[in-house]
Amino acid sequence: MAAPAVLRGATTRSWAEIEKIMASGNVKGRIAKDEVPTPALMLDLDLFEANVKKMVAHAKANNRALRPHGKTHKCPEIAKYIVKQGALGACAAKLSEAEVFAAHGVRGLLVTTAVVGKHKIERAVRLAGVAPDTIFCVDNAQNAQDLNDAAGAAKRKLWVAIDLCVSGRTGIMPGAPAVALGEQIAKLGNLRFKGIQAYAGGASHTKGWEKRKAASIAAMTPAIETRAELNKRGVETPWLSGGSTGTYNIDSGIDGITELQPGSFMFMDTDYNLIGGKETGENYADFGNALTIQATVVSRPTDAHVIIDSGYKAMATDRPFVPLLKMAGVKFAFNGDEHAKVTSTEGALKLQVGDRVEVIAPHCDPTVNLYDRIYCTRGGQVEAVWAIAARGMAQ
Ligand SMILES: Cc1ncc(COP(=O)(O)O)c(C=O)c1O
Repeated sequence: MAAPAVLRGATTRSWAEIEKIMASGNVKGRIAKDEVPTPALMLDLDLFEANVKKMVAHAKANNRALRPHGKTHKCPEIAKYIVKQGALGACAAKLSEAEVFAAHGVRGLLVTTAVVGKHKIERAVRLAGVAPDTIFCVDNAQNAQDLNDAAGAAKRKLWVAIDLCVSGRTGIMPGAPAVALGEQIAKLGNLRFKGIQAYAGGASHTKGWEKRKAASIAAMTPAIETRAELNKRGVETPWLSGGSTGTYNIDSGIDGITELQPGSFMFMDTDYNLIGGKETGENYADFGNALTIQATVVSRPTDAHVIIDSGYKAMATDRPFVPLLKMAGVKFAFNGDEHAKVTSTEGALKLQVGDRVEVIAPHCDPTVNLYDRIYCTRGGQVEAVWAIAARGMAQ
């Protein structure tokens, strides 16, 4: 008699054995990818390492510092790996994310969102005690004063940068308002002025490389002019950080931008694949899709479709297109919180109950935030399991 379909898959080991290996922390070469319970977040190390290598080499060749954004991975192991490859630190979107990175030994932190309110400022000052080179962004005179006063009370100095509004999100407007803020910061004795952060989120996802280039130049020019004006007025402004996965090879050619802070490049999602590349036409393929969700086929209601165990709770759905499977001839459709439907687009559907499929998330950052750990794989084997220690750190 044929084996029941639910026993498909390569493993002959018991779950108790797998659990023991996982608990030991020494997983390298001891667990197959197909033995990990699904839905599981997976990182293809060959692709990830190549992505990091390429970005590090690009920044170096163009004489720019590189501080990749940790909002993408939320994983101290990843931050430390990238620093080892040549980055000078990691960005953190929020204070609580930075606190986790610092507690795990990551240095060279840039908190890209303003720290507002008495208690958060207290925490920022405490963080600076642990990681003194952390840079905090400000876009408001009162906030600068509050940071200065709290730092003074703790007998600390805080590095601060102006968050400049170049894409309609946070930040102070370029030109006179930002220059006035810079002059104020320079006079506050407990703050050390680092320079300007200008993240042009609108430019980063502009479709078509030439259009994106024009959008980024238009967004970043006021930042460069503001930096020049501050320097002219004697407010030393050595640093201007910006850039993204979409604009890394545009911003690295713009004079006046000293540092790049891209994030998604390390994982690559379908959102970014769709923006078009400089040399690759409509498909932006500068970086490989290293991040996937591994799912299991749990039902085959008809010969024309199967149901997998990964739905809205397994991948972020904030984009107007569905996830892609790493498999030709099939199409994905969400089918509720826990499930999705996979249909054949050419001929008979070969997938059976128990089979595994890999899904590329439409948007990597919020997808990572759904998982406690990431399984790092090479070939068919798990090489490491890294904690997404800053998962949920949204404060
Ligand atoms: C302030 C800031 N810098 C850099 C990035 C990285 O952008 P990307 O993931 O598009 O490379 C982001 C992403 O949202 C961001 O918010």
